[in-house]
Amino acid sequence: MTGAKTRIAVLVSGGGTNLQALVDAQSRGEIPHGEIVLVVSNKAGAYALTRAEKAGIPGVVVEKKKGEQQDFEDRLSAILQEYRVDMIVLAGFLAILSGDFTARWPRRILNIHPSLIPSFCGEGFYGLRVHQAALDYGVKVTGATVHYVNEIPDGGEIIAQKAVDILPGDTPEILQRRVMEQAEWILLPRATELAAKELTERSTQQ
Ligand code: GAR
Repeated sequence: MTGAKTRIAVLVSGGGTNLQALVDAQSRGEIPHGEIVLVVSNKAGAYALTRAEKAGIPGVVVEKKKGEQQDFEDRLSAILQEYRVDMIVLAGFLAILSGDFTARWPRRILNIHPSLIPSFCGEGFYGLRVHQAALDYGVKVTGATVHYVNEIPDGGEIIAQKAVDILPGDTPEILQRRVMEQAEWILLPRATELAAKELTERSTQQ
């Protein structure tokens, strides 16, 4: 990897607006230390795969059937190796990765979560459920967090956070959109560049 860009795989499960934010930032030259070389979806037919195709990035499906964590991670690892991936970005990726898997990628997996961690995070908190929980609690400020991934769900070191106001009349859908526009789509490309830069520097020091 010496002197080269950090090779990034983006893992997705759904619509892929965060993937789009990364692709757009890359084409504006805002991720100079990284290159998205692969998109992996655990769901066949995810719109994120169409976004990858439109951007000319290889997209593959690695499905996870109930109770086959090891087999799923073996297939995922094989494809990551095939594309010589250095760093993984979880962008709305809703399958759990085991502690064994994350331990093999220290400070090399990033995740975006749609709240200000440590609020409304951990097991069972994903997508609209996170925003529903924030509204149910009655907090007036929420936001998004990008963090490194370790064996604790949403428990790895925080890289970046941004606060977003909750407004009267918000529904989970309205709030989700505001958090994406005002926080997620800005934070994720920035944090990806920071982490990619750190990795290129680490590899040139070796
Ligand atoms: C995003 O809001 C992301 O933060 C969230 O899923 C959505 C995916 O949207 N991730 C989680 O909840 C992870 N715990 P997208 O497919 O349009 O990027």
